[in-house]
Amino acid sequence: MDFSRLTKELESRSAEEGLRWISTHMGPLAKFSNSLGLEDQVISYWIGQGLSIEVFTLDTGRLFQETYDLLDLMQKKYNVPIKIYFPDSTRVESLVGLKGPNSFYDSVENRKECCYIRKVEPLNRALANAKLWITGLRADQSSNRRTLSKVEWDDAHQVAKYNPLFDWSLEDVEKFISEHRIPVNTLHKKGFPSIGCAPCTRAILPGENIRAGRWWWENSSKECGLHDTK
Ligand code: ADX
Ligand code: SF4
Repeated sequence: MDFSRLTKELESRSAEEGLRWISTHMGPLAKFSNSLGLEDQVISYWIGQGLSIEVFTLDTGRLFQETYDLLDLMQKKYNVPIKIYFPDSTRVESLVGLKGPNSFYDSVENRKECCYIRKVEPLNRALANAKLWITGLRADQSSNRRTLSKVEWDDAHQVAKYNPLFDWSLEDVEKFISEHRIPVNTLHKKGFPSIGCAPCTRAILPGENIRAGRWWWENSSKECGLHDTK
């Protein structure tokens, strides 16, 4: 299906209807990258109602135990198979052997190298046969994410990318989760609105931006390279 038709179909539908349309018309060509974040839990809830959309998680090997607990719970509760992608062991062995287990604290370059090995390369494998990539990105997560759109073309992976909750506010997401009693990561109520790897995420302080706890020691744009933000 060409990209302009796909854009038209998805732009005109609500998030839930968009995902239902994908399940009917694209099936195994569409893949949802699930980090088990708040937004992803909303998407998983819909997929768990019987949509045929493949779900995968990138297990960097450095996630919080609370994230693994939620992954386990989701697989049991919604009975949706979640494919787990691990980083290439040879690359991790060589990185850790050369630079140690905490090289990400030393420079942005080293941090991006770790993100590349543990997230980006496995993502490339996960999307190898996909035509559509579904994510939980929202515009108001950060100023650089505002430059994205609900449906876009991802040049790096040569797939269409669909961010069904792009226009939702954090309040919309929280309201939906509480109304539908969807389980969430127990770290959220401890001050972690955005959760990535354990060594690279801290709780935020009152008034801080929701992504302030990600790579908190950096002044970078706080992206790991998964998403092609400007
Ligand atoms: S990140 O790039 O800073 O890590 P964030 O945690 O905000 O991303 O999540 C945004 C979206 O990226 C998620 O909704 C999900 O689609 C995807 N994503 C991020 N991390 C992972 C992961 N470990 N596994 C699968 N998808 C992920
Ligand atoms: Fe490595 Fe931190 Fe990136 Fe995780 S978030 S892949 S530990 S640098």
